[in-house]
Order: sequence, then structure tokens, then C-alpha cells
Amino acid sequence: MKASTTLLAASALVSTAFAGPAPVKRDTVSNANTPPVTVKGNAFYANNKRFYIRGVDYQPGGSSNIADPIADANSCARDVAEFKKLGINTVRVYTVDNSANHDSCMKALADAGIYLALDVNSPQYSLNRADEASIQRSYNDVYLQFVFATIDTFAKYDNTLLFYSANEVINDNATSFAAPYVKAVTRDMRAYIKARSYRSIPVGYSAADIDSNRLQMAQYMNCGSDDVRSDFFAFNDYSWCDPSTFSTSGWDKKVAQYSDYSLPIFLSEFGCNTNKRDFGEIAALYSTQMTSVYSGGLVYEYSMEANKYGLVQISGSSVSELDDFTTLQTQYKNNPIPSGDGGAKASGTASTCPPFESPAWVVNTTQLPALPAKAQAFFTSGAGTAPGLSSKAGSQNAGTASTGFSSNSGVPATNGTSSSGKKSAASSVSTGITSVVLAAFGVIVMLL
Ligand SMILES: *[C@@H]1O[C@H](CO)[C@@H](O)[C@H](O)[C@H]1NC(C)=O
Ligand SMILES: *[C@@H]1O[C@H](CO)[C@@H](O)[C@H](O)[C@H]1NC(C)=O
Ligand SMILES: *[C@@H]1O[C@H](CO)[C@@H](O)[C@H](O)[C@H]1NC(C)=O
Repeated sequence: MKASTTLLAASALVSTAFAGPAPVKRDTVSNANTPPVTVKGNAFYANNKRFYIRGVDYQPGGSSNIADPIADANSCARDVAEFKKLGINTVRVYTVDNSANHDSCMKALADAGIYLALDVNSPQYSLNRADEASIQRSYNDVYLQFVFATIDTFAKYDNTLLFYSANEVINDNATSFAAPYVKAVTRDMRAYIKARSYRSIPVGYSAADIDSNRLQMAQYMNCGSDDVRSDFFAFNDYSWCDPSTFSTSGWDKKVAQYSDYSLPIFLSEFGCNTNKRDFGEIAALYSTQMTSVYSGGLVYEYSMEANKYGLVQISGSSVSELDDFTTLQTQYKNNPIPSGDGGAKASGTASTCPPFESPAWVVNTTQLPALPAKAQAFFTSGAGTAPGLSSKAGSQNAGTASTGFSSNSGVPATNGTSSSGKKSAASSVSTGITSVVLAAFGVIVMLL
């Protein structure tokens, strides 16, 4: 959430550990309007048709008044009516009560052709990026139990589009030390989904709008062996402030920078509100100027809160549409998705792990934190009872933390070959970036 406390996530493991019990047959809640979305190459697909995220961030009350918006059938029905008018296909929710029943709202969303992009953390259950000791302590079995219980609650709905393993954990240069923990949680979530025989629901990170290390984080989350790579990469971007254009905003450069990235990329938040918004971003985002690299995005945000990004004003059980709502609705109407595949790539290779580069990227290890030992049981027995939002104790100092690092992690490649043995994409990033990366090789060699 913009300008709010960051929620963190985390953890580790060995893929061969799940060879045991036979796959469990899972219940699914399907709807003809929301076929399951899968990842192929650098794009999302639903029923073999390219899928673009066209949506809004949805958390009435914001981070100061945490309430699960999709556990309440009445407020959900009120808002789904507005989502339909707006013409969207996805909502992002930052915090849910994983112990609540979501059947009614998930069905209302699915009936309207709307998917859910879900964060798996809560303010109480999150990684703590304060320092190295805090993040290590907060990556523990109690935290993972909460995360996995959230997966258990939402995996059955076919309109669960994706899970964010963490949101804006790294919010400046210095906090890049937290990256291995974010990657470990992502690894653990993907392994859990597989071990529990759920549908392959995509998992990835939502990065803060930080210029100095956003590209490194994207590369880092997509480097190494397949079991530690993400399924997508998302970032928040407030650089297009109306009046602006594709080139004035610098979005043209961000297409070039990621042109060889092999996973789907989308904007998990956008919509700068410095001036009156005309949402010119929509025309660019859903045009072939961008669709070979980007799969759409989510406008921040549905409801008007203290930070003034809202499209509607909620008052009790009623909603009034603000000017920005109508503006955005018109932009969606005027800018349909491109026909065909929009220039998507059907396949690609892992990124090269970015080298240590102080001050912006202070990741000096080639390994990931090991799965906290007590979390191993969840993979065979499930996560058990979901804690919900009522616990005040939370997870940051609970349970038993991870000890040590595992070698199963994606070793940085310094000679153009990624650890998975595939040819790296580094040679084709834009020249500005390449020279920065090459300059940093001196640093890496000294460290080694
Ligand atoms: C962050 O790192 C970049 C180098 O990429 C540097 O230019 C900038 O000054 C750093 N910011 C801070 C606050 O240290
Ligand atoms: C690696 O990074 C950690 C945390 O940022 C730091 O404590 C440690 O001293 C670093 N090690 C080296 C060899 O630079
Ligand atoms: C480059 O990578 C390959 C493959 O991992 C390795 O065999 C080779 O020794 C490396 N070369 C150098 C100069 O590090």
C-alpha cells in the first residue's frame, strides 16, 4: 500500500522432500466466467487466450483500519456492482482474514468475471525488515503457517489469480539485504502449492517504486534453478503523473529495460495523483507499445482513504463515484486489449543473479535461508487452523526461526551463464544498465 506500513513475507526448502504421499484430490470452485489463469513464457493465459490484468487495488479502510473486504457479502455485492461498471477483471486485496468464509464474495466476483490477486500477509504476520537479526527471526514456522493457511483458504477458487509472497519489503537501497528472505518465502509458497496438489497458482513479489534496485530485484527473483524462481514479477509505479506521455513518464525505458525478462510483469499499483488524473496510462499499458513486456496493472485504489487515491467514496452501505471513476471507466472503454498475443514471448530463460553493488544492492550471499525445520510438517499434513486477523501476538518473534542457509538457491553467474545452465539475458538489457552491471563485476571479483 502506498505510504503505509509494509507487510513482509518469508522461507526455504528441498524439493525432493515432497516425494512422499500420493496427491490429494482437491475441491475446486469453478465458474465459466473465470477460467483458471496460467503462465506461459512472459504472459498470462486463460483458456489459451492472453490474459491482461485490468483492475484496481481494493482495501477499504486502508492499512490503518484492517478489515477483510471479501469476507462481508453485503459490502462485496455493493462494490462488485461498481467493478462491473468500471469494466475491470481483477482486484488486489492486501489483507484478508484467512479464517473467514469467502464463498459468497468469491462467487460474486467470479460471476462478474473478476479475479483476485491476493497478498498473504497481515500486519501481525509478516517479515520484519528492521535489520538482519529481525528478518532472520521473523522467518519462522508460525509465519509460514499463516501464509500457508491463506493458500489453503483461497486455492480452491478458480478465480484466485495469483498470490503475492510479499509487498514492498525492500523500500530503499539498504533494505535490499532482505531479498533472500523474500525469495525464500516465494520458494516455500510455490513448493507448498505443489506439495499440497493445488492448481499451479502463480506466486511472485510486489516491489516498491524504487528506481535504484528494482531491476536487480526483478533479476534476483528470476535467477537460479526453477524451484527458486518466481512465476511473475510485479512492481508499484507512480512515475506517470498526468499530464504525461509514454516517453515523458519514462515508461518507454522501462519497456526496454525488461524487454528480455522471461516472466510476466505487471504494475501492482499505479495512478500518480500529483495532478488531476486523466489515466493516460491506460492507453499506453494496453497498447502494443507495452504488451510485449507488460501484462497490465492495477490502479491504486478503489476507495477514497486519507492518502487521496480513491475512485469512489464509501459511506456506510452506499458508494458514490468520484470524477476519477468516470475518467478511468472511459479510458478502459476506449482502450481494449490488443488482439492476438500482444507480442508475448512463448519461452525464455532465467535471469542472471545481480552482483553485489553497494549501496543499491547489498545481497552478498549466493544462498537462501533454509526452511524453518518446524515448517516441514506443513508440506505433508497441511497448515491446519487459520489464525485469522484477531491474534495480536502475530508471528515476528514467534515459533522457531530458520537456521542457516541452503545451497539450493541460484548462484550468481558472473560470466554470462545462469546457474540453471541457460544462457543469461544480461547481454540484452539496455546499454545503460549493462554498463552498470559490468562495472560492478570488479566488486564481485574482489568479494570472491
Ligand atoms: C541508492 O543507490 C544509488 C545507486 O544506484 C545511489 O545513486 C543513491 O544515491 C543511493 N541512495 C541512497 C539514499 O543512498
Ligand atoms: C554480507 O551482508 C550481511 C548483511 O547485509 C553483513 O552482515 C555481512 O557482513 C556481509 N558479508 C560480507 C562478506 O560482506
Ligand atoms: C563460466 O561458466 C562456466 C559454466 O558454469 C564454467 O564452466 C566456467 O569455468 C566459467 N568461466 C569463468 C571464467 O569463470
